[in-house]
Parts: sequence; structure tokens; C-alpha cells
Amino acid sequence: MRNIYCVVCTFFLLAFFSCTREYRTTVTSPDGKIKVETGIEEGKPFYKIEKGDKKIIEKSFLGFILKGNDAFNKDFIIKNTEFKSFSEKWTQPWGEETTVDNTYNEMTLRIAEKSGKKRELSIVFRVFNDGVGFRYVFPKQPNLNDFTIMDEVTEFALVGNPQTWSIPTNHTNYFEHLYKKAPVTSLDTVCTPLTMQVNDSLYLAIHEANLTDYAGLNLTPKQGSSTLKADLTPWSTGEKVFAKTPFQTPWRTIIIARNPGDLMLSRLMLNLNEPSKITDTSWIQPGRYIGIWWGMHMEAYTWKQGPKHGATTANAMRYIDFAAKHGFSGVLVEGWNYGWDGDWSKDGTHFNFTKAYPDYDLAKVTEYAAKNHVKIIGHNETGGATKNYEAQLDSAFALYSKLGISCVKTGYVNPLLDHKEQHASQYGVRHYRKVIETAARYKIMIDNHEPMMPTGLQRTYPNLMSQEGVRGQEYDAWSPDGGNPPEHTTIIPFTRGLAGPMDFTPGTFKFENPVLPKTHVHTTLAKQLALAVVLFSPLQMASDMIENYEGNPAFEFITSCPTNWAKTVIPEAAIGDYLLVARKDRKSNNWFVGGITDENARKLSLSLSFLDKDKKYKAKLYRDGKGADYKTNPYPVDIEEIEVSSSSTLQLNLAPGGGIAIAITRE
Ligand code: NOJ
Repeated sequence: MRNIYCVVCTFFLLAFFSCTREYRTTVTSPDGKIKVETGIEEGKPFYKIEKGDKKIIEKSFLGFILKGNDAFNKDFIIKNTEFKSFSEKWTQPWGEETTVDNTYNEMTLRIAEKSGKKRELSIVFRVFNDGVGFRYVFPKQPNLNDFTIMDEVTEFALVGNPQTWSIPTNHTNYFEHLYKKAPVTSLDTVCTPLTMQVNDSLYLAIHEANLTDYAGLNLTPKQGSSTLKADLTPWSTGEKVFAKTPFQTPWRTIIIARNPGDLMLSRLMLNLNEPSKITDTSWIQPGRYIGIWWGMHMEAYTWKQGPKHGATTANAMRYIDFAAKHGFSGVLVEGWNYGWDGDWSKDGTHFNFTKAYPDYDLAKVTEYAAKNHVKIIGHNETGGATKNYEAQLDSAFALYSKLGISCVKTGYVNPLLDHKEQHASQYGVRHYRKVIETAARYKIMIDNHEPMMPTGLQRTYPNLMSQEGVRGQEYDAWSPDGGNPPEHTTIIPFTRGLAGPMDFTPGTFKFENPVLPKTHVHTTLAKQLALAVVLFSPLQMASDMIENYEGNPAFEFITSCPTNWAKTVIPEAAIGDYLLVARKDRKSNNWFVGGITDENARKLSLSLSFLDKDKKYKAKLYRDGKGADYKTNPYPVDIEEIEVSSSSTLQLNLAPGGGIAIAITRE
């Protein structure tokens, strides 16, 4: 009887809607605060978002232009709508917290062309308490089989002219750029995540989730207005996406937050990815490692063969000894294999991923590592030659798995893949997925450099540990502009960081640069420690050469700091100015705090109310010492141990470009 009632209802509703010009329907977040309204206006699908009485996204149109100037964004009528509610708590094998709440209300708008081919399209909206995700679904249908997307015309009509933090899409390789603060109307085409401040209590971030067999998202303002339009990364031939029904796009995501800290704590992107396809995740192990790495960037070693070759058996064994002594989980060895001798960044086709240089005994090194309970982290720089890499993937990963190498850092240094396609194009997206899936089959974790922008795939493939896609600390070794300014790390947790773990590689203990004296790390030593907590990455490298750590008491913070967390809180945050992050270790009751500032000295007060009530803790503070300053005097660090409890409040003084690191141990 109920079904009949529904059918009758639908019939009358359809009859009603086909007589009206505008059809509307809404869905709200579980807490009722965020409302999404959608419908068709003069044949064009649209959506709007409000939070309470505030407009977040004004009427914004949706749809596509397909090949042959075929508009798939107009002449639509609504077929029906469907609603669903969902709630679960899922566990992350690693992450910024153990459990993630995934609770949303969903609305699917099914539409079809009124005339002509009467092709169908659905738009699915999921509304969470912290924002909205929506995606297009192309059902299997007689008049839409293979199709080519030339343009996705999705709009985000912002209210007013919010300030944004962004990097430009064009002429930016691998998303390695300094973020600029500017009003939305002044933007060129920019990458996502695009973070913005609408007012003191409203922050937004637009990005995407689950980028699968599609092109990466960019945004471009429409004629200098504050309406942003999707701008997909094209193939070299101009098409954006080749597809076949049934097909679905990645989710378009909008985090809606009251403050910058809540942007960082949103798990909307992860929730919009599929659950893990890897059932036994016991081999996926976060950790802190060291590497034969900074030495190459500082020109003390070379990747290629020769008198300064870094990846020698003896050097690797020295790094293994150091790792074992200080409790590091792994040693990265770059430059171990054939392929580096010519100009590898121009032509990566000479890379061989199974053949070691004569002065590097791969079997001996991996055996020595195993004896010392340390893992070798393999390195596969491809120079962007993905075909060469794909041809060797299986044999390389089979070899690594035999030798106990369970993690590989990949790299794609070349502005184009195979001299043709962009990293964030559908071509690149397909390649990266192939590598992650193949690695999963061989139980290998991936740390991917020069990636497409991450979109939360680590939920589905938790062996995708960390990625670059950020202007990392290596720029402080060789960048002609002098390196990263102090404010850089007070911005990236709210921009690139929203896309997932960042392999930024902090950990410099020696600030002088003999090769380029004007280029150096623009922080104090205490800030280098703090970044180990602030910048989340389940695999994180203490990046300096090991000799620079010897005998420095501040090194204890790095060796004691975990990389996998049970809980994260953000006590203080202002984008581009300062940030305090507190994280609880997954394996103990201990907490670690990192606080950082930009070029300005700062006084912050930190309430430890996140600690367990009625428990005693010891806090070891690593503060900027007297006269510390990122420009002239980065080294002074005062180390002090005090008793604290959940009722303590600490007064923190951060030097210009400085920071604070605190290890809090429960007694
Ligand atoms: C760029 C990567 O970001 C860096 O970490 C690596 O050392 C070089 N490429 C060489 O692969």
C-alpha cells in the first residue's frame, strides 16, 4: 500500500513539476544547520548552499560540454529525487585520529533531457555537519555510451569577495608554489584545495574527493566575478575526460568551517572515498625514517655514479647503524639504481628499477638492514617516463618484496609525463592508480613525489602513505629565491594539507648552506622540531644528514615523536600567522604539541585541557632560546621539563620564524 502511495505521489509531483518553470528540493546536514537546495531553472540544473541564515554558495549551475559542442547542461527536466541517510564510524589504519565519523544525509537528483536523445544524468549530494560533497553519475543508457568530456561547467558562486589562499595552475609544476593571499575575483586559474575566509567565523575550502579515471580539478573565476567554474586538467589533445557509461565523477567538496582549525579537522574528503580495499593492513606501518637524501640536495653527494656517489654500500650501512641506534624505522636510499648518469630530469627512459650501481650491494644492504630491524625504503625516480616505469613495475616490486623492501618513494620530475601529458590529467591519474594498486598487490607502501593533487585515496588504498605536491623543504637547499619564507608552513596545513599527508621533510639541524649561502631554511631549530607534529605524514623523514644530528640534545624530540595519532586538536590557528597542533600518540597516552609562527615573534597561551583529567604528566618543552631568530640566530633551544595536568596553561614565546615542541608523557 505504501509503495502504491509513493508511486501515486511521484506521478502527481511529476505532473506538477512539468507544469512549473522551477522545481526545488532540499536536503540538510544531520545537525540541520547546512541546507542544500537543488533544482532546474530553464532546463539548467543548479544547487545552492546555506548555513543557518547565511548564504554559502548562491545559485550555481551544473553540467558538461561533451565532444562535438554537445551541451549536456541544459534542456533538462527532473525525473525524480531520492533521499538517504547514513551513519558509521570507521577506523583508520593510520591517520590523525583512530576513528572517523561518517554521518550524512544524501539526495540524488535524477534528470533527463526533455527532448532529443533524452539522455539521463544524476547528481548526488551528501550533506555532512562540516560541509557538502556532490558528484555526477552517468547511468548506463541507450543514447550515451562512450563519451568525451570537453568541459565540466560546475560552478561555485561565492558570496561577496572572500580572501583566498591559492597557487596558480598554469606554469606551476607539481603544485610546488608559494600560496598567495588574494580576493577571489582577482584569481587566475588556481589549483584546489582552494581555501578562503569569508568572515571571522566562516572559512571554506573547495576541493575534490576520490579522483578516479578523471581529470584533476582547477577553478577559474568567471569574468572576474566571485563565481568559480571548474577547469579540468586537459589531455595534450585538449579533451578532458574519456568515459563510458556507467560512469561517475569524483566528488566536488566544500568544507564549511567556523575557524581555520576546523578546516584541518574536517574528514569530509576521506568520508567521500570508498572503504579500504586492503583487508589485511598489518604490513602497512607508519614510521619516522632517515635518508641518503639532503646530502644530494646540498651537493655533498650525487645521485649519479662517481667520487661523490651517495648511495654506496658503506654509506647505506652507516645510515642503517644510525637508524638502529636512534630507533628510526627506515632508511631511504636515493641514487642506488642505473639511470641517473645523463640528464635524468629531461629523459627518464634510462631508469632501471632492478639494477643497482656497482658500488651498491642491494642484497647486502637489505640483509644488514633486516638484521638491525630497519627497513630500506626503495626509491623509484622515473623522470616522468611512466611507460618505462609501468613496463618494469611488476619485476621491480617482486624484487623489492623478496628483499623485504616494503616501502617505495616514487618520483616524476619532468613538467610532463612521457613528454606529453600533465601529471593531473586523466593520463596521469590512471598511471598513479596503477602504481598504487600494483604496490598493494606486492604489499608495498608508496610515498609519491610529483603526484597529482591528493584526494583522499588513502582511505581505499592505505598503502598510499604520503605524497609531495607541495613546495617542500628541499627548496631551502637550492631554490634561487632563497627558500621558503617563514609563513609558508603556517599556510600549507590549511591549503595543500587539506588534501592529505604532506611529505614536506622537515628536520634541518644545520642551517648554513655552503653552496648557495643566501638560500637556507627560514626557521629556528625549535620550529624544525615543531613541524614534526604540525605537518602530518604517517611516514616522515628526519631530513638532515645524520652527522648534523650527532650530539644535539634537541634531536631527542625527533626520535621520540610518533607519526601516527589517536587524536588531534588544534588549540590555536590563524592562516599565514601561527598554528598550535596537539596530537595523541596511537600507541601510548602521550601527547605531542607543535607550535609555529611566521616571521613575527609571538606569545601564545596553550591550555592543556585536552589531557586526561586527574592524571599527572611530565612535559618536556623545546623552546626558542634567548636571541633565537630565523634570520640570524636559528640555533638556540631551551629544553625544560615540568609537571603538568589538564588544568595547566602554558605561556609560549615564539621567536621570529620560531616554534615550540612539547612532548607530554603520562606518568
Ligand atoms: C624530487 C623529489 O621531491 C626529491 O625528494 C628527490 O630527492 C628528487 N626529486 C630526486 O628524485
